Amino acid sequence: MNYIGSKHKLSPWINEIIRSQLNQPLCDIVFCDLFAGTGIVGRNFKPFVKKVISNDVEFYSYVLLRNYIGNHQEIPDKKFYLEKLNALPGKKGFIAEEYGENGKANRLYFSEKNAQKIDAVRQQIEIWKKTKEINENLYYFLLASLLESADKIANTASVYGAFLKKIKSSAAKELKISAANFSKTINSHQVFQEDANLLIHKIKGDVLYLDPPYNARQYGANYHLLNTIAEYKKFTPRGKTGLPDYYKSMYCRKNQVVEQFEELIKNANFSTIFLSYNNEGLMSAKLIKEIMFKYGKYHLETKTYQRFKADKSENRNHKANETIEFLHCLKKN
Ligand SMILES: C[S@@+](CC[C@H](N)C(=O)[O-])C[C@H]1O[C@@H](n2cnc3c(N)ncnc32)[C@H](O)[C@@H]1O
Repeated sequence: MNYIGSKHKLSPWINEIIRSQLNQPLCDIVFCDLFAGTGIVGRNFKPFVKKVISNDVEFYSYVLLRNYIGNHQEIPDKKFYLEKLNALPGKKGFIAEEYGENGKANRLYFSEKNAQKIDAVRQQIEIWKKTKEINENLYYFLLASLLESADKIANTASVYGAFLKKIKSSAAKELKISAANFSKTINSHQVFQEDANLLIHKIKGDVLYLDPPYNARQYGANYHLLNTIAEYKKFTPRGKTGLPDYYKSMYCRKNQVVEQFEELIKNANFSTIFLSYNNEGLMSAKLIKEIMFKYGKYHLETKTYQRFKADKSENRNHKANETIEFLHCLKKN
């Protein structure tokens, strides 16, 4: 998924630094990815550590995490159920009406055929769950597969803050639900959908990886349609883009982020903490250093990085398309 702040490309760099800072074998580590998004950082550690704890406040993310991290043993019938979903005819429902081509709301997020297919697939997954034909593991595997596949044929520039005026070529392709495959491990893992500052009181471990939002762009607004498909509960969509009420993170607010961040570091029951942030974020590197320094031994790693596609047109002072990515490291006292 093309996700704002995704660490997909940066993962090898982050992995290497985290591994180099450990003074215990990886197989004894409890690794927590507290703002997990697509879950990619935790997914990379999952096969090697004792346990991954993965969390994100957004429900679409929880669905992905529940599958990619929470699922760790083979699901025997998954291919059979995917084939059944792919064979379903389209069906008019909430997505087609409110977010599909020729729907009553005139929002061009999906072609008519794909919007109806999303409705049909989403309804079928729920029926199987209600009739207990599928268990929770398979339910989240199928939902995650739907979210990933629907995202590929969405008629947007990248995020769901707006739709395009005409159906673009990738959005004209027919929706095919592909398997959201997860890695299998003997050990089990934990997945949460909570505010990081609340969850931090209830968990403990060895490595805490923090990747909060860097700026004012709220994930709940930018990925609202993924939540709407995942939750599939009717509501009255607002305005041109059909926004639901959405969660507003304090990490996206200039006047609250510093206090939130310090609280989190203070309350963390983890011996090693890493924070990903960049040079354009709401908190400066200097400020972050001052905060983390109070709680133990601190050092900083940096890397220049190609910025997320959706930001390319923004006019900033430094070299176009490049940003400096920081990994702040703390050995907590
Ligand atoms: C920069 S993204 C993480 C990207 C992730 N590392 C990846 O590679 O996919 C930040 C994430 O923090 C989540 N978030 C924002 N505020 C939060 C909060 N208070 N508690 C937990 N998660 C939060 C957002 O939903 C978003 O997925």
